[in-house]
Amino acid sequence: MDKDLSRILISQKEIEQKVNELGKQISGDYQGKELLLVCVLKGSIIFISDLMRAISIPVIFDTIAVSSYGDQTKSSGVVRLIKDLDEDITDKHVLIVEDIVDSGLTVQYLKKMLEQRGPLSVKVCTLLDKRERRVHDQRPDYFGFIIPDEFVVGYGMDYDEKYRQLPYVGVLDTKIYKE
Ligand code: IMP
Ligand code: MG
Repeated sequence: MDKDLSRILISQKEIEQKVNELGKQISGDYQGKELLLVCVLKGSIIFISDLMRAISIPVIFDTIAVSSYGDQTKSSGVVRLIKDLDEDITDKHVLIVEDIVDSGLTVQYLKKMLEQRGPLSVKVCTLLDKRERRVHDQRPDYFGFIIPDEFVVGYGMDYDEKYRQLPYVGVLDTKIYKE
């Protein structure tokens, strides 16, 4: 385990199993449909890489980047679009893939923005759901794990751009961000 963590919350094996389950579920639900997966940079990059290989129907892939966090552990309350999609989403089924839904602000912003562009549907798949911190009434259509209100890193998720490479999800030791 990385020395800056207080414990491992979700192991590599547990993630792998859950990602495969989600892939199967999504493949079934979107059978015969044209599906566009949206990677919300940078946090969901590892999750979406594994998830798309667990999906058996054809998909297309695009990226979007927003910011609400800076390098703090709490949301700023304002979402800013940093990089838009490259693809036209008119008449497409869109699945936003997130690392974690916390207050719900980011997902609310993204859904609202993409729904204005004439897609057939916009849904959300998140690896982690920090449900007890929800402020904006957002329910992910697909989620991997419901987690408690603790700051986590790994499997794409960062603190101050670090720890994204860890193959598991761990709780960051509070001494790291209280220093
Ligand atoms: P929300 O807008 O409050 O729902 O926050 C969503 C974004 O905040 C996520 O996509 C993450 O990038 C980031 N975030 C929230 N909680 C954590 C955490 O525990 N670790 C790392 N990033 C987090
Ligand atoms: Mg994110």
